Amino acid sequence: MTIHPLLPDLAGPDLAIAWAPLEALSGDSHPDEWEDIASAAPSRQKEFVAGRQLARALSDQLGLPPAPLRRAVDRSPVWPSDRTGSLSHCDTLCAAAVGKRSAIQSVGVDVESIGRVEPKLWPTLFTEREADYLSALAPEAIALEATLFFSAKESFYKCQYPLTQEWVGFQDVEVARTDKALLTVAPTNGAAQAWHAAPIHAVEMSESHVATVMLLPA
Ligand SMILES: CC(C)(COP(=O)(O)OP(=O)(O)OC[C@H]1O[C@@H](n2cnc3c(N)ncnc32)[C@H](O)[C@@H]1OP(=O)(O)O)[C@@H](O)C(=O)NCCC(=O)NCCS
Repeated sequence: MTIHPLLPDLAGPDLAIAWAPLEALSGDSHPDEWEDIASAAPSRQKEFVAGRQLARALSDQLGLPPAPLRRAVDRSPVWPSDRTGSLSHCDTLCAAAVGKRSAIQSVGVDVESIGRVEPKLWPTLFTEREADYLSALAPEAIALEATLFFSAKESFYKCQYPLTQEWVGFQDVEVARTDKALLTVAPTNGAAQAWHAAPIHAVEMSESHVATVMLLPA
């Protein structure tokens, strides 16, 4: 299986992050995992299995034993007690992070294809301040940055959920750029909490795809 490291400087003995083409991640699923997806459409089964294959490979890299990754009723992944992690898939790619629970409190990963976050979606996805920032960019930079801002909200959502069990809407948080590789997230109402504090890492994987990763150490 060919998997590509994602943010290798962030990874180490307690954390593995990688992506791979969906096609490279086919295979048999654990029977317990299959039970969670048996009645879904084939394309959904394919991405579900791909995420589990990648998570298993990353767990293996960290020396963690194979264990089924079930899906909760709310559709969030139920990580075995010795690890935490996050999964994402888009049209052709899958990305995942797995961390040892002793070192990593939570992690959120998201992969997106560039260009689908069209301006007509901005009023739903972005606050006024975010939309003003995006509108002021050079025209050729807008699609990439809008995709990264959207992806950052998805990574934030996945990272905070295991800690809060709460749904967060797109207008409830605001993303800002701090430097070439980093974004931040802040609540639009109320005080920032510990799970808002970490930076969100932005990665341009290729001309067509980006990823973001939010990591809360233990
Ligand atoms: C959960 C959600 C973020 C998934 O994003 P997506 O772009 O549809 O799909 P992705 O492929 O990137 O991620 C899917 C994976 O997220 C994971 N996931 C699902 N619900 C989750 C949750 N509540 N918390 C953490 N991870 C979750 C699952 O592993 C899922 O893959 P799987 O079903 O194959 O196991 C999205 O569907 C959602 O419900 N969003 C809620 C609102 C929101 O996005 N708010 C953003 C503003 S902060």
